[in-house]
Amino acid sequence: MDRYIDFDKINLELPPPEEEPDRQYYFTAKAKRYAEAESARLGRPLTCCIQTFGCQMNSRDSEKLLGILKQIGYQETDDEHADFVLYNTCTVRENANKRVYGRLGYLNTIKKKNPDMIIALCGCMMQEAQVVEKIRTSYRFVDIIFGTHNIFKLAELLCRRYELRQSSGTEACGAIPASLSQPTKSGTGTAASSKNNMVIDVWEGTDRIVEDLPVERKYPFKSGVNIMFGCNNFCSYCIVPYVRGRERSRRPEDIIAEIRRLVSEGVVEVMLLGQNVNSYGKTLDTRVTFAQLLKQVDQIEGLERIRFMTSHPKDLSDELIETMASAKKVCHHLHLPVQSGSSRILKQMNRRYTKEQYLELVDKIRRAIPDISLTTDIIVGFPGETEEDFQETLDVVERVRFDSAFTFIYSKRTGTPAAKMENQVPDDVVKDRFDRLLKRVQEISAEVCGRDLHTVQKVLAEEPDDHLDGYLTGRMDNNTVVHFPGEPSLIGKIVDVYLEESKGFYYMGKRGN
Ligand code: 5AD
Ligand code: SF4
Repeated sequence: MDRYIDFDKINLELPPPEEEPDRQYYFTAKAKRYAEAESARLGRPLTCCIQTFGCQMNSRDSEKLLGILKQIGYQETDDEHADFVLYNTCTVRENANKRVYGRLGYLNTIKKKNPDMIIALCGCMMQEAQVVEKIRTSYRFVDIIFGTHNIFKLAELLCRRYELRQSSGTEACGAIPASLSQPTKSGTGTAASSKNNMVIDVWEGTDRIVEDLPVERKYPFKSGVNIMFGCNNFCSYCIVPYVRGRERSRRPEDIIAEIRRLVSEGVVEVMLLGQNVNSYGKTLDTRVTFAQLLKQVDQIEGLERIRFMTSHPKDLSDELIETMASAKKVCHHLHLPVQSGSSRILKQMNRRYTKEQYLELVDKIRRAIPDISLTTDIIVGFPGETEEDFQETLDVVERVRFDSAFTFIYSKRTGTPAAKMENQVPDDVVKDRFDRLLKRVQEISAEVCGRDLHTVQKVLAEEPDDHLDGYLTGRMDNNTVVHFPGEPSLIGKIVDVYLEESKGFYYMGKRGN
C-alpha cells in the first residue's frame, strides 16, 4: 500500500465514502474499533487463521486478506482455534470441495466451545450458487461468505457481522437491515444477504480491480503479483471461467509500481500471476502485450528473477519466446499445460491446438532457449478418452520429456460443457491410466532433472531445510529445488551452489564453485 493510513483518525461519525479504496479504509477503521473492544473484553489479542486451498492465485488473495485482518488488529496463527477462521476455497476439482465440507464439520465442533468465533468462507467454491445454498441451509454456523471478486471488502463484511451480533445477540435471528438485503453497487449480479445472521456477499462478475489495499506477504524476498484476473478460454472441463469471471488485465503502470515497491521492501523474485498470462493486455485501453510487460519488468533495478504462470499454448507468441531468450531476469522455466496428447480430445476440451502444434511449439521454444525447463498439467479420463487417446498423451510425455508434470484425474464440474458429455470413463480405467502416466512422468522427470549435476548454479535460498540441521532449501532459476549447507542469514539471497548429487527431483549441493 502506497499511502500511510492512520485508521484512528478516520471519522466514523461520517457516512462511509462511496469510492474504493477509501471506503475500505473507513471500514477497516471501524472493524478495528470493534476488534479492540472484543479484545479488551477477552483480555487478550484477537487471532486469525487463514487456510488456503488451491492455486497461487488463492495464495496471493490470502496474503491480501491477511493484510486486511492484521490492520484490523488480528494476530496470525496456524491454529484453527482462532477468533476468526477463514477458508479460501478452490473448486477446480470435486476433491477440493469435499475437503472443505469435511473441515467445516471440524470447525463446528470448535465453534460450539467458542460461540464468539467468526467463521468465513471465500474463494472459488463460493462463486457456485448451489454451494452457497448448501452452506446457508446445512452449515448455519458459518458467519460470512464472499466470493472471488470482492475480497477487498473483507473489512466491510466483518463490520456487518459485528453489527448483526450486537443488534441481535450471537444466536438470535435478527431482522435483516435493508442495506444488507439489497445488492451492493459495485458488482454485477450481486447476491448480498443476511439470513440467520450470515453475511453473504457474492458477485457474479466484476469489471473493476481495486488497487492499494494492504498485503501481508508470506516470504519477504519473493512475491506473487497479479497481472490479470479471470479467464475467457472456457476449456470444456474447467470451472475457472465461471468462478473467476471474465479476463481483466491490470494496468502496466500499476504492476510496475507494485513491483518497484516490493523490490524496495526486499523482494528479489516475482511471480507474475494470471490464468492465461499470454493474453495479458487485451482488455486495456492501450494494448500492451505480455512480452512488452515482461520487458518493462526486466528493467526494474534490484529485481533479480521473474517467473510467470500460466501460459496457454494457443496464445504463446514468438515475441514472448524472443523476450524470454533475451531478457536478463526472466527465468528459463515455462509451465505449458498440454492437458492431453490426443488432438481429438484436445478438440473436445476446446483447447484450440493439436498435438502436432503443441510439439512444434515445444521445438520452437527449445531452439530459442535450449536450457528451458518445461512443466505441464495433464488430465486423465476426460469423457470419451480411449486407450488410443491415452497412448497419444503418453507419446507427448515421451517426446517432450517434461521436467515435471502435474497429473490430474478428470473431475466432473457441474455447469461445464464436459459434465454433460455422456461417455464418462469408468473410474477403474481412469485410475489404471493415471498410475501408468504418473510412473512414466516421474521416471522421466528423475532423468531430466539431473542434467545440471556437477555444475554451479545460482540458487535463491528460501528457508531452513525441514530435515537437515544447518542446511537451507532453495531454488534454481529453472525452479529445481536444491538443499545445501548454509546459515539462515543467507535466506533471501541468490548464492552460487555446486550441485554434488542428483536425487531425482532435487539436488544436494554445497556453496561456492
Ligand atoms: N478435472 C481435472 N483437472 C482439472 N483441471 C482444471 N479443471 C479440471 C477438471 N475438471 C486442471 C487442469 C489445469 C489445472 C490447474 O487443473 O490441468 O491446468
Ligand atoms: Fe481453465 Fe482453460 Fe482458463 Fe486454464 S485456460 S483456467 S484450464 S478455462
